[in-house]
Amino acid sequence: MPEGEAVVRVQDVIKEFGPLRVLDGVGFDVVRGQTVAIVGRSGSGKSTLLRCIAGLETIQGGNIEVCGHAVGRPGSAARAQLRRDVGMVFQSYNLFPHLTVERTITLALTLVKKESKAAAKQKAAEVLRLVGLTDKLLAYPEQLSGGQQQRVAIARSLALQPQIMLFDEVTSALDPELTAEVLAVMEDLARRGMTMITVTHEMGFARRVASLLVFMHQGKVWEIGPTAELFANPKTAEFRQFVGSEL
Ligand SMILES: Nc1ncnc2c1ncn2[C@@H]1O[C@H](COP(=O)(O)OP(=O)(O)OP(=O)(O)O)[C@@H](O)[C@H]1O
Ligand SMILES: [Mg+2]
Repeated sequence: MPEGEAVVRVQDVIKEFGPLRVLDGVGFDVVRGQTVAIVGRSGSGKSTLLRCIAGLETIQGGNIEVCGHAVGRPGSAARAQLRRDVGMVFQSYNLFPHLTVERTITLALTLVKKESKAAAKQKAAEVLRLVGLTDKLLAYPEQLSGGQQQRVAIARSLALQPQIMLFDEVTSALDPELTAEVLAVMEDLARRGMTMITVTHEMGFARRVASLLVFMHQGKVWEIGPTAELFANPKTAEFRQFVGSEL
């Protein structure tokens, strides 16, 4: 896919849970290598939107395309392809307590990607270097800090070499010091050209790293644009108030 082309296209997406409309005509494009930050109040639909992009939800209207494949409609893109294209990391990292860091990463590679044990081990070492955890190869989750566990979860996702990474509030369970470690890893990934969509409350991170900012409100894209411009010149009272409350 050529540079500058949209790798994620979200158009007029409607998502309903029974009578509740949670996404109400959401649309935006993400180009390869771009970092997008999605912000907004609790309940505005941020996590639902990420889950829709990851193919974890069906949508009731509109279209989502990821790497050229339709997502979210019955009969659309094979789950397996999407799982290869998109990596997702959540607030709770859900590591298996009985697996070492190395095994956590190689397991996905041998099961999902059918790689040999040797190749998987080599890749585990590579991604652990990326997240700064080379020395924790043989540690178990309980021997790691929250920030280290979250970095293992990121490494596990990266090992599958996704085209796009989705991050949903990955630092909100961490104290400030550990948050900084995890944000540094994400910032590094962005610099290396990974396409990323991050739901975050870290406004400093959004300003530093995201070129596109999406402010969600009541299931809609309320404001969208280059991050610096939006912060410098909020157009709506809702966004102004949100920025004020996050400072
Ligand atoms: N599986 C579900 N079934 C029913 N309603 C749901 C479901 N998932 C989310 N919702 C509702 O959809 C709305 C949006 O939720 P969502 O989790 O996307 O918000 P959010 O912006 O991520 O909020 P937060 O900042 O608190 O994480 C909420 O009203 C929520 O209650
Ligand atoms: Mg959420």
